[in-house]
Amino acid sequence: MDIEIEKHTKEFVKLMSYYKCAMMEIETKLNVLNEEYSLAHDRNPISAIKTRLKKPKSIKEKLERKGLEVSIENMEENLTDIAGIRVICSFPEDVYTLAGALLQQDDIRLITMKDYIAKPKENGYRSLHMIVEIPIYLAQQKRMMKVEVQLRTIAMDFWASLEHQLCYKKDNEFTKQMADELFECARISAELDLRMDELRKSVQKQKAERGED
Ligand code: GTP
Ligand code: MG
Repeated sequence: MDIEIEKHTKEFVKLMSYYKCAMMEIETKLNVLNEEYSLAHDRNPISAIKTRLKKPKSIKEKLERKGLEVSIENMEENLTDIAGIRVICSFPEDVYTLAGALLQQDDIRLITMKDYIAKPKENGYRSLHMIVEIPIYLAQQKRMMKVEVQLRTIAMDFWASLEHQLCYKKDNEFTKQMADELFECARISAELDLRMDELRKSVQKQKAERGED
């Protein structure tokens, strides 16, 4: 193999493994919070955690879309979603509780936050997006890595997963009627979240009255 290409491949593999480690760090932090919460309140705020590393092909395409040269430096400096972690929560309240608990940890630095729950996207998409930076500790150095964390409820995830299959960044033509229907589904999913949250509050109140919470 060409010596330059081999060097680059090695650097790339190394960087991707750092992203994987950063993702593992955050996943552990979330699992710890879930464990603590489930002991204290007898229910799990996290329903599932999904992690993914961006594929080399998508990394290349995104850099090219941004008009940047495909390089290791540009990857780290300009892409914030190479490591992605999606946290599917039980209730809307859990999204904010978990985000808050994660952000108050002193080794996590918030870079950006987009609250598509408070302000959904035009198509109806809801989720809380954060780009955070977290240190990973290697044998000889401490390295800060960026991770994209998406938090959403089961209802938000249901809608987003199906919408993604139907159209997100695909070339399918979406008629106005289809977009309206999808938006209506998003509205219903938001209403479901609200109603389930009301139920959660009622149950919590009962428990409090019994002195259990
Ligand atoms: P990307 O270039 O796709 O990363 O988007 P962005 O840089 O504008 O960031 P944003 O925070 O808006 O979206 C990041 C990620 O959220 C996307 O890669 C998707 O995983 C998810 N997302 C954002 N908008 C939508 C949407 O309308 N539908 C679905 N299904 N997912 C979305
Ligand atoms: Mg992305």
